[in-house]
Amino acid sequence: MMIKSTVTALALGVALASGSAFAYQQGDFIVRVGAAGVDPQEDSSELQVNGDPLTAVVPAAAPATAGVDSNVQLGLTFTYMVSDNVGFALLGATPFQHTVTANLGAVGVVKAAEVSHLPPTLSAQYYFLGKDSRFQPYAGIGVNYTTFFDEEVAAELDAVTSTLGLGEATGVDLDDSFGFAFEVGCDFAVTDRIIVNAAVWKIDIDTTATFSYAGGNKIEADVGIDPLVYMVAAGYKF
Ligand code: NI
Repeated sequence: MMIKSTVTALALGVALASGSAFAYQQGDFIVRVGAAGVDPQEDSSELQVNGDPLTAVVPAAAPATAGVDSNVQLGLTFTYMVSDNVGFALLGATPFQHTVTANLGAVGVVKAAEVSHLPPTLSAQYYFLGKDSRFQPYAGIGVNYTTFFDEEVAAELDAVTSTLGLGEATGVDLDDSFGFAFEVGCDFAVTDRIIVNAAVWKIDIDTTATFSYAGGNKIEADVGIDPLVYMVAAGYKF
C-alpha cells in the first residue's frame, strides 16, 4: 500500500514536472496533412516580343500582361522541434497545376499555357505559447524553391501568335525561383497526439515565362506570382 502510493506520487510528480501533454518539446516531430491552396497575387510585366513591347506591334493588346489562376492540392508539413519553442519545418505538396493567361485587352484574355510546379519551403518556426495551451500559434520565416515543369503552350495563344506572323510556339519555359517565405499558423491539440491546424504563407515566387517560336523569336514576360498559400490540416505529434 505504501509502495503503491509512493509510485503514484512519483508518477504524479513526473507528470507535473513535464507539464501538459499538449506542449511541444524539443525532439517532437509533427506531421500535418491537408488541403493546400495556392492563390497567386501576380504582377506581370508587359509581354515582350523579341525584347520589344507587344503593344508596339499590336496597340489593341494593351495591357498585354500575364495572369495565373489558383489551385488546390494535397499539402504536407513536417516540423521538427529543436527546442520547446523553435521548430524547423518543411512544406511539401502534390504538384500544383495552373493556367497561365495573357490579358490582351481588346484582343481578349487568352489561355497561354498550362504549367505544374512544386514549391518546397523550409522555415524556422517560433511557437509563442507555453506548455499549458491547447492552442499553439506560431510564425515562421524561411526560403522557398519553386520549380516549374510540364509546361505546355495553349492553342488559344497559338491562334493569336499565328495572326502576328510568329506561328505556333515550339515550347514554353518558366524559370525556377528562389525567394523568402513567411508563415503564420496555429495548431489545436484535440488529444495529446492529434491536432488540427490552419496556416497561411506569403511566398516570393518570381519567374520569367518564355514562349519560343521558329527562327529564334521569343515572347517573354517577367511574372511575380507571389502567392498566398492556405492550408487546413489534421496532424499527429510523434
Ligand atoms: Ni516577388
